Amino acid sequence: MTTRKNLFMKQSRNHKAGDLPLHWYNLQADLQTPLPPMLHPVRGNPVESRELTKVFPLALVHQEFSTERFLEIPPAVREVLGSWRPTPLVRASRLEKLLETPARIFYKYEGSSPTGSHKPNTAVVQAYYARKQGITRLVTETGAGQWGSALAMACSFFNLQCKVYMVKVSHDQKPYRRMLMQVWGADVISSPSRLTGSGRKILRQDPACPGSLGIAMSEALEDAAASRSARYSVGSGLNHVIMHQTVIGLEAKHQLDRADLQADVVIGCVGGGSNFAGLSFPFACDRLLGSKKPRILAVEPAACPSLTRGTYQYDFADTAGLMPRVKMYTLGHTFVPPPLHAGGLRYHGVAPLVSKVLDEGIIEATAVSQRETFKAAVQFARAEGILPAPESAHAVCAATKEALRCKKERRTQNILFCLSGHGYFDLAAYEAFLEGKLADCDRRK
Ligand SMILES: Cc1ncc(COP(=O)(O)O)c(C=O)c1O
Repeated sequence: MTTRKNLFMKQSRNHKAGDLPLHWYNLQADLQTPLPPMLHPVRGNPVESRELTKVFPLALVHQEFSTERFLEIPPAVREVLGSWRPTPLVRASRLEKLLETPARIFYKYEGSSPTGSHKPNTAVVQAYYARKQGITRLVTETGAGQWGSALAMACSFFNLQCKVYMVKVSHDQKPYRRMLMQVWGADVISSPSRLTGSGRKILRQDPACPGSLGIAMSEALEDAAASRSARYSVGSGLNHVIMHQTVIGLEAKHQLDRADLQADVVIGCVGGGSNFAGLSFPFACDRLLGSKKPRILAVEPAACPSLTRGTYQYDFADTAGLMPRVKMYTLGHTFVPPPLHAGGLRYHGVAPLVSKVLDEGIIEATAVSQRETFKAAVQFARAEGILPAPESAHAVCAATKEALRCKKERRTQNILFCLSGHGYFDLAAYEAFLEGKLADCDRRK
């Protein structure tokens, strides 16, 4: 039987060999009831793991279904991650001063990775296992380009070809991310495209479609399925991706422990849910094992409010319905979010694991609008120097609100949030905000 004490001891042993964890944490081990199974897109019955091996490398399929609490990070992966991990845990003292809050605000800075976000934490693992299995090409989708650049870099480390379907609106808004992917050797296609059946179908219905992650996902899947030596790679949502991201929370917990501090509130922005879960799940396990602390808050855009306005039900992960159906909070797989600047948060659903812990009341969710998000990001940049990615700015906004709540209640609390990426390729969005040209595009009831 796992108690909080021995789980904590195991977690601290996890760092014995240095600050980078030796194992990933798998929240599936601590759920009271198992995660609802993935359902086959056509048959409707639970998908068997062998069926997924046509889509993903074998080792990742095993991880997807694993209920083991700690899984070892392969040494070759630790070696690559170790070139930028552990990432810094920084106290935002000047922001605290500016807000005149008694709260202590800490951010875990994932923008310090070579591609500028948390995404390489899983990209490196996926490329490593693909290479080990003799796969020669990985195909994926990307929103704002952060995931695509992470996979492009990881594929170049492990000598794999990489093809990225990039959501059209971001492809046009963020040319530098596309160029970066091309520097790392990837083939980048604007989605919806004419290269796949699902892309052509969407373009017939709406030639001006701005694209969405769900559409790009369908195109990438179709492309990967056409070749035996290719596999599909996913940047968020699935259990194995979330587990790879737990290095963020395991490190943060260890860094806080060493400073003799405990988090009262843990915050992350949510697209598919991977940086949020990566930071918060090592803390959520305390709550699953009976602790009332910390509060865990998922932040999403009011323009794409899957957690706060969606329904918890089975839905397809992609728009064309090629992927299995999973139980998650969703706005419906045909929902195309407005072209907000946080391209990585334009996804109709949220990871099944994140959805389940929200449904069980282990975590909370909130939605913020585009303009208040950019306002908080600019305030953060002026106080702390770093320019947040528009996605991460959602976490900055919620952390700022929590700090102001502490001020009102005259309470000292430790607020921890994930600064999942930097925004140095998103300057056009900041320019639009500073010129007053940015609109809110909140989803109405
Ligand atoms: C910087 C950054 N943060 C967050 C996200 C959202 O993804 P996830 O919810 O998987 O962390 C993205 C997605 O592209 C991103 O680029």
